[in-house]
Amino acid sequence: MDTSAIILAAGAGTRMKSAKPKVAHEIMEKPLVSYVIDAAHKAGVSDLVAVLGHGRDVVAPLVEGDCRVVVQEQQRGTADAVNSCRELFEGHEGCVLVLSGDCPLITPETIARLVEVQRKRKAAAVVLTMTVDNPHGYGRIIRDSSGELSAIVEEKDATDEQRAIKECNSGFYCFDIRKLFDALSQVSSDNAQGEFYLTDVMSICREAGEHVIALPTEDADECLGINSRAQLAQAAKIMQRRINARHLDNGVSMSDPDLVWIGPDAVIEQDVELLPMTFVLGNSSVGSGTIVGPNSRLKNTVVGRNCVIDETVAIGAVIDDDCNCGPRAYLRPEAHLCRGAKAGTHVEIKKSTIGEGSKVPHLSYIGDATLGSNVNIGAGSITCNYDGKHKWPTTIGDDSFIGSDTMMVAPVNIGTNVTIGAGSVITNDVSDNSLGLGRARQVEIEGWALRKKEKDEDK
Ligand code: UD1
Ligand code: CA
Repeated sequence: MDTSAIILAAGAGTRMKSAKPKVAHEIMEKPLVSYVIDAAHKAGVSDLVAVLGHGRDVVAPLVEGDCRVVVQEQQRGTADAVNSCRELFEGHEGCVLVLSGDCPLITPETIARLVEVQRKRKAAAVVLTMTVDNPHGYGRIIRDSSGELSAIVEEKDATDEQRAIKECNSGFYCFDIRKLFDALSQVSSDNAQGEFYLTDVMSICREAGEHVIALPTEDADECLGINSRAQLAQAAKIMQRRINARHLDNGVSMSDPDLVWIGPDAVIEQDVELLPMTFVLGNSSVGSGTIVGPNSRLKNTVVGRNCVIDETVAIGAVIDDDCNCGPRAYLRPEAHLCRGAKAGTHVEIKKSTIGEGSKVPHLSYIGDATLGSNVNIGAGSITCNYDGKHKWPTTIGDDSFIGSDTMMVAPVNIGTNVTIGAGSVITNDVSDNSLGLGRARQVEIEGWALRKKEKDEDK
């Protein structure tokens, strides 16, 4: 779709009571404004312009790459925000969308429909409207006796009679570019908030005899604007249910979908089972036949097929098919479990490859290590990868067996088919097929206990 969209994201979001700019607040670890950008992209909008102002140092990195950025120096209202894009659209024909950056539930279908209606009916403006039980805070849609849109009145400027209207402005529009900027020149700040309202464009166009359309949405939820923390929680709930419904439809099992949080960009194959208190966030993916949870959090983690991921936190990890994690495993960035590997109970793995069929079953830390296949790490073993200044690597060859409570002081290489005796501190390389032992010899003092007893009785 050869269309531009202006995304409004300069406001302070005072009602959030936050040091963070409103559109940078997150639902399932994704910023609000990114949801709007994604919906516009999916609708096929080819050119995005983000209007930034308040907290733009925080917001700019979230939109750069997807949007051209325009700065609105002072937040003097939504009309002023759109007007700050005037130069970019000088001499342009056709239509432009205006999207609120604080409405993350908007869908690509609705954005596309706005453009379609504007084009088909050659309207100066199309505004998406919604009918809600509690219109508090929204601009009200005023229709004339023939049912046509005549104006939008903000809550603070509305009469009691107007406040009773339940049809509201959603904050999504499609305008004829030229007519939009012509009308913007005529918007004043003579209102209760002393702001330049974009909504005044409607009545200005209407009075000029232009065609202005109020297009009711089929689903008021998708227009929910986030102005407060309560609305943020409400939107998060709706988003969770919307995403989960899609996965349930696709053959993913969840015994209690209200206790499963799947990010908008996660990919989950059919016949995955997600148990309660599970989070699948960021660009995570989960392969068919895998069970995740309970109490698990995957972020930017790739999980293969037929794995069991029980009470596990995995961030930036790769888990191949047939692996077993947890309960209580912690996989950190660049942890890679190859096919059939195991990261068991109270095991932390960072920037390490655990080869095919290798097992780290209990109470271990493995960092900056490369393990071959069929390695077994005994309980309580640790790679001592950090000397206080630098991180050092450990390698362990195929088929090696590391006894319990072994400290591998890196850098160190342990060959293939090696056995390390339990309780060893390994500071030197161990060659293939050897036994490595690094511990004090056990002493035995015969009859010691009897002599001690005699001594104690003499006292
Ligand atoms: C706005 C509409 C209201 C509508 C509601 C829907 C106006 C005057 N009112 O009200 O009719 O029902 O959205 O959610 O347009 N922004 C800027 N620069 C500014 C002011 C705001 O970029 O100077 C941005 C905000 O960051 C936000 C969006 O514009 O993303 C809407 O602003 P907000 O203050 O939330 O407007 P509402 O009071 O919700
Ligand atoms: Ca708003």
